[in-house]
Amino acid sequence: MDITHNAQNIAPFFKMLQWILHVITSSIKLFMPLLPILRFPDPRLKTVASPVEKVDDSIRRLARDMAETMYEAPGIGLAATQVDVHKRVIVIDASETRDQLLVLINPELLERSGAQVCEEGCLSVPGIYDKVERSERVVVRYLDPAGKTQTIDANGVLAVCLQHEIEHLDGKVFVEHLSLLKQMRIKAKLAKQARITA
Ligand code: NI
Repeated sequence: MDITHNAQNIAPFFKMLQWILHVITSSIKLFMPLLPILRFPDPRLKTVASPVEKVDDSIRRLARDMAETMYEAPGIGLAATQVDVHKRVIVIDASETRDQLLVLINPELLERSGAQVCEEGCLSVPGIYDKVERSERVVVRYLDPAGKTQTIDANGVLAVCLQHEIEHLDGKVFVEHLSLLKQMRIKAKLAKQARITA
């Protein structure tokens, strides 16, 4: 049997393999447990989340589902509060390559310094972006998915993201930093959006 003959025999097999792989990947996408995200001004976003007592499989599963939801949205951070789970868990990926996932359980702001103004957005406030002043640098202590204590020293966008997500766990949405007039306008705009999509 020569090589050409062999390749001809193999071609339909590869086509089928390709098709099987396609079916598998599309069903995985279909069954990805994307979590519904609460929208401002949903009163549940005001809930103060409770500390995680034990980092177990249920917390790791929550973090994984949150990360998938964040990447799919797409967003650079998501707090458990936003998916109506009131536990102190956040996921962040502020990298341009989207491969630097951070899972922070029971995050605590230990230090903050400096100031920066950054245009922020939020998956709970779709389509709204506005400038918020935050600390330039923060030091945050947290538990990783293995339950180990870690510390992160961050500045720039990552520092903004950490402050924004930790605030969600305390029941606060970034638009609450804006004037009351702006908040009223945002509520009206989101209510209109909700009527259109309903
Ligand atoms: Ni947010």
